[in-house]
Amino acid sequence: MNNPQPQPPRQKPARPRLSILRLIAIVFLTLIILVGIAVLIIWLVVRPRHLVYTVEDGSIHSFNIADNHLNSTFDFILRAYNPNNKVSVYYDSIEARVEYDDQTLASDAVQPFFQPHKNVTRFEVKLKSQSVALFGSMPKDLKLERSSGGVELSVQIKAKIRFKVGAWKSRHMILRVYCSPVLVHFSSSRGFERTYCDVEL
Ligand SMILES: *[C@@H]1O[C@H](CO)[C@@H](O)[C@H](O)[C@H]1NC(C)=O
Ligand SMILES: *[C@@H]1O[C@H](CO)[C@@H](O)[C@H](O)[C@H]1NC(C)=O
Repeated sequence: MNNPQPQPPRQKPARPRLSILRLIAIVFLTLIILVGIAVLIIWLVVRPRHLVYTVEDGSIHSFNIADNHLNSTFDFILRAYNPNNKVSVYYDSIEARVEYDDQTLASDAVQPFFQPHKNVTRFEVKLKSQSVALFGSMPKDLKLERSSGGVELSVQIKAKIRFKVGAWKSRHMILRVYCSPVLVHFSSSRGFERTYCDVEL
């Protein structure tokens, strides 16, 4: 070099700082990419799929309407299917509800349970209405449906659940299950048609 250009003295300390910044940026980007690949691999291995709910059976007993008040018991058999290969579910608390025209007729807690992967669990929901006030046209409509032989209800589940994958457990999440319309006949000889439910997480 015949003609070396003297560098301004204040640029000298700037160079190593720039490369440290570049190094930090490269490490940071690499980490983000690695985490992304890890998440993708976990997702591909675990491949979480929706829980599937159906109402398998329903019956009504001791149904009586007097003075716009209802006494009745509602029995349902729900089927919960966990189609996942690697994901199990803790049902920490479960509340079941039966509604008619958006009004709650009865609700109660269901026994908490643990559902392994690829598992089908059937559970019974017994709900009791005692002197439940009916509003507007509900008493008349319910009586009309009753004389037709059946009544269209909505069955709902709200559950606090956690997922388990290997040793890892998720935080709490709220699972909502809507089954509607569920046509329940008063005569058990009329049979019951399986109802599929919407599941929201
Ligand atoms: C419901 O049951 C309660 C308690 O057994 C009774 O007092 C009430 O009269 C009943 N109401 C109807 C509508 O049958
Ligand atoms: C589902 O899990 C429950 C509780 O662990 C068990 O009792 C039941 O037999 C399992 N059902 C099937 C079909 O594997």
